Amino acid sequence: MITVAIDGPAGVGKSSTSKALAEHFAFAYLDTGAMYRAAALWCLREGLDLDAQAVDQAAIVQAVGALFTEDHLEMVLDPEEPTVRLDGQSVDQEIRSERVSSHVSTVSSIDGVRRVLIAAQRAYIAGESDEDSFSQGRGIVAEGRDITTVVAPQAQVRVLLTAREEVRAARRADQSQSPAQAVGQDNVAERDRIDSQVTSFMSAAEGVVTVDNSDLTFEQTLQVLINLVDQAV
Ligand code: C5P
Repeated sequence: MITVAIDGPAGVGKSSTSKALAEHFAFAYLDTGAMYRAAALWCLREGLDLDAQAVDQAAIVQAVGALFTEDHLEMVLDPEEPTVRLDGQSVDQEIRSERVSSHVSTVSSIDGVRRVLIAAQRAYIAGESDEDSFSQGRGIVAEGRDITTVVAPQAQVRVLLTAREEVRAARRADQSQSPAQAVGQDNVAERDRIDSQVTSFMSAAEGVVTVDNSDLTFEQTLQVLINLVDQAV
């Protein structure tokens, strides 16, 4: 089974490219950002105060743990229809709302939260999750911020997908104008600033291939990744 690990900052086209790559090879697709977003949404729904100067970290870690011990969270790894469910209801729109985007880094920067989610992500990658038959298939594409370095450093293909900052900002601006992505404003630069204090996705770790797609189309970027996977199999 092949693991493809893709990290990178926000606004680089990581999710759409990773999903298309998984579809191309009929691999499973794991969007770890969606897991952190679902965790943040869950905490908000549980009434935890994520705006406090000093958030109640223990309560947050406990709430996020319950996502798994009480089976509230379900990740569907089918790349044609990746879905995140909380208590059986799809939250794909809600986890990309401005409210969640502006609180997710608060939750993801807590060590105990990362421990819980990293363990769950490793189980998906190992095909140990009983939820989704895709994880038992030929391979998986997992994307996020710390997949190449922490979650799956053993992955056969490890990529840092990046683009110049002004290019990323322009792409995000375009996305927020599209009705399909009408998710409100997301302060990507601020999120990257906070996130990069916790995970290092701005430069490639040893053995990780950097793909800068500033001057590449979506199709060209996808082709570069397909070639990398082809070389690894
Ligand atoms: O990729 P996306 O923008 O959906 O990620 C949402 C947030 O989840 C990031 O801003 C970051 O705080 C967190 N995240 C993380 N580690 C990952 C993936 C996402 O901390 N592997």
